[in-house]
Amino acid sequence: MSDLAELEKQALAELNSSSDETGLRAWHSKYFGKHGAIPAAVKKVSEVPPAERRAYGQEANRIKEGLIKAYEERQQKQSETQLARELQSDALDVTLPGRPIRRGRLHVATQDMRRITAIFADMGFQVYRSREVEDDLTNFELLNMPPHHPARDMWDTFHTTTGGVLLRTHTSPGQIHVMRECCPKPIRVILPGMCFRYEAITTRSEIMFQQVEGLAVGENVSMTDLKGTITAFARRLFGNDRKVRIRSSYFPFTEPSIEVDMDCLVCAGKGCSLCKGTGWLEIMGAGMVHPVVLKNGGYDPSRFSGFAFGMGVQRISMLLYGIDDIRYFWANDLRFLNQF
Ligand code: DAH
Repeated sequence: MSDLAELEKQALAELNSSSDETGLRAWHSKYFGKHGAIPAAVKKVSEVPPAERRAYGQEANRIKEGLIKAYEERQQKQSETQLARELQSDALDVTLPGRPIRRGRLHVATQDMRRITAIFADMGFQVYRSREVEDDLTNFELLNMPPHHPARDMWDTFHTTTGGVLLRTHTSPGQIHVMRECCPKPIRVILPGMCFRYEAITTRSEIMFQQVEGLAVGENVSMTDLKGTITAFARRLFGNDRKVRIRSSYFPFTEPSIEVDMDCLVCAGKGCSLCKGTGWLEIMGAGMVHPVVLKNGGYDPSRFSGFAFGMGVQRISMLLYGIDDIRYFWANDLRFLNQF
């Protein structure tokens, strides 16, 4: 019995002096492990004289239960102090201002494409998306340019290794797609998108660039509607005092054809490298849809007429911001892009 009392005293003293997890674990295996002191003491009951056996057993059990409880309490307390310590040392200051996130933005080409789209949307034009990979038929033939037509020289073309399949040189083939889908209903759409040309890259021309094509087809669509639409567009985008010039021109898919120029913003009309000294920049080609093209789209040219136009979006941006080199657009230089 006195051994038991001594064991309890010693175990409690050691438990109270073990201050961390490792110490506690060591204590547990010393007293409660396979060869621990407590199981050994309990086992000793068989060696005790029968008269004292019962009392011994009870006392051993009491000590065992008490120590388990003390151990669990100690363990609980230990993990609490541990947590408190960690909270103190890894303290998180939630009032600290966050690190600024670098702000992204839309590419200037996307921004301007959206501005142009919004203006035409106000005038009732819907957006029609058309493919970038075309066939010769739609890019040229159905637009009134049979094979070997000299006008094809205006569009140096990227051909694919599949015969007759090419990267569209302009958005005009979209006219055929939208007409065939909508005929004989009236049409008022714009066709925005990327175009590709196998050309020398200069300050004025890139091998890829965006165009916005416009097409209106109906029963009394006239040149006046075209002029009104273009003028309204130019004034919305560039302001009421912008100078616009309309010239006679030629495109195989329009008759008559016109070209629309605006005064050069870089040199204010004096002449510079951007406008090749002319003071003017061409912003779009346009005209009345050629009867052959109307017919190719499924419309009867004796009943229907239409106007069409096509402009280069990057040219428009250059005018808006006075950019003197088209190569900046796809050069991926943040010093340029961050300005917009
Ligand atoms: N497709 C022409 C080009 O890329 C631009 C153009 C001119 C489009 C006249 C038209 C148009 O719709 O009527 O140069």
